[in-house]
Amino acid sequence: MKKYLVTGGAGFIGSNFIHYMLEKYSDILIIDLDKLTYAGNLENLKDIEGDKRHIFIKGDICDRKTVSDLLMRYDPDCIINFAAESHVDRSIADPQVFVETNVSGTVNLLGCSMNAWYDPATCTWLPGKKFIQVSTDEVYGALGSDGFFTESTPLSPHSPYSASKASADLLVMAFHDTYKMPVNITRCSNNYGPYQFPEKLIPLMINNTRQKKQLPVYGDGMQVRDWLYVKDHCKAIDMVAENGKTGEVYNIGGHNERTNIFIVKTIIEQLRRRLEDEGISEALITHVADRLGHDRRYAIDPEKIRKDLGWFPETPFEEGIVLTIDWYLDNEAWMDRVTSGNYMKYYEEMYGNRL
Ligand code: NAD
Ligand code: TYD
Repeated sequence: MKKYLVTGGAGFIGSNFIHYMLEKYSDILIIDLDKLTYAGNLENLKDIEGDKRHIFIKGDICDRKTVSDLLMRYDPDCIINFAAESHVDRSIADPQVFVETNVSGTVNLLGCSMNAWYDPATCTWLPGKKFIQVSTDEVYGALGSDGFFTESTPLSPHSPYSASKASADLLVMAFHDTYKMPVNITRCSNNYGPYQFPEKLIPLMINNTRQKKQLPVYGDGMQVRDWLYVKDHCKAIDMVAENGKTGEVYNIGGHNERTNIFIVKTIIEQLRRRLEDEGISEALITHVADRLGHDRRYAIDPEKIRKDLGWFPETPFEEGIVLTIDWYLDNEAWMDRVTSGNYMKYYEEMYGNRL
């Protein structure tokens, strides 16, 4: 039986990954370590409650004792680190926690793994072990109107979020270069799909549109992101865990470059038709003050993972956005619950002066 330690499994991508893996493999054990910050939600894992192949542990990746005890008790073959502070706007407002979780948390996981898996006397690692760091294309900085990020693009992060992720990547690679730790780093583009917290563009716009609230588009809305359907991303991570070559970085992109304004107009159009409400219109779009240091364009060349591991993005944006909207319309109670309480405070602080 293959055993995984997944961190951040109550968040957006982590919970999708756990669903994906439990559907795909019957003989599997997933230990899920999550601090349950504002972004972590056990409701994302409700349908697998009671499934013995998934063990949830509430805890912090920065806590040495918690992580060491888990490694000792369950002896996982593979650690996949999804846990992070993940929102650029929050990192601009308050960078400190990004360094704590994304940098110190990652180095703690690396150190604990090394204690459990490495024999300094012989400089050898237990066979069959691997550490996967889930990173982001944002570590490469921003592109102009053409070109793509490849794995050899120099790191040039701009936001406190991407700087913290780049720092973590450098530490992961340092453990590989120094101690030959078996690692992979994956760098993906913008994910979208079920269970994404509505602070990110797509779920925020779906939530506001269904309520006919203003749709805050930063600046001119012509920034470009490469959208990756979350299930395609989960498949890529599974393939890297299975066959990724030690020490390699893999870029994972959707070949779905779209401007932000296109995304917002697509959501409006879809919801107007689906909810049969003429009050849902482009008049809801409100251009607001731009994000500080806003990266203009991200785009990934996923050729390496295609060539080496046979992965490709299967879900075109037009299909993925319909699946995503379907999910949010079918799960309005989920959206209502995650946007009650603290979310309103966040929204007021982030958008109050802009709108
Ligand atoms: P998310 O914010 O939805 O979830 C993060 C999860 O980590 C939450 O469940 C949270 O409770 C948990 N967490 C936070 N701090 C923790 C800590 N100290 N200890 C344990 N758990 C902690 O994030 P996501 O969108 O699912 O992103 C997952 C990973 O993928 C992150 O590393 C992120 O940088 C990366 N990534 C995300 C995207 C995207 O589009 N969402 C794109 C590129 C890379
Ligand atoms: P986001 O989903 O926060 O992801 P990232 O910053 O990691 O790419 O934002 C995606 C794009 O949408 C980004 O260019 C910022 C923009 N954006 C808005 O225009 N309005 C919003 O309310 C949000 C949340 C994002």
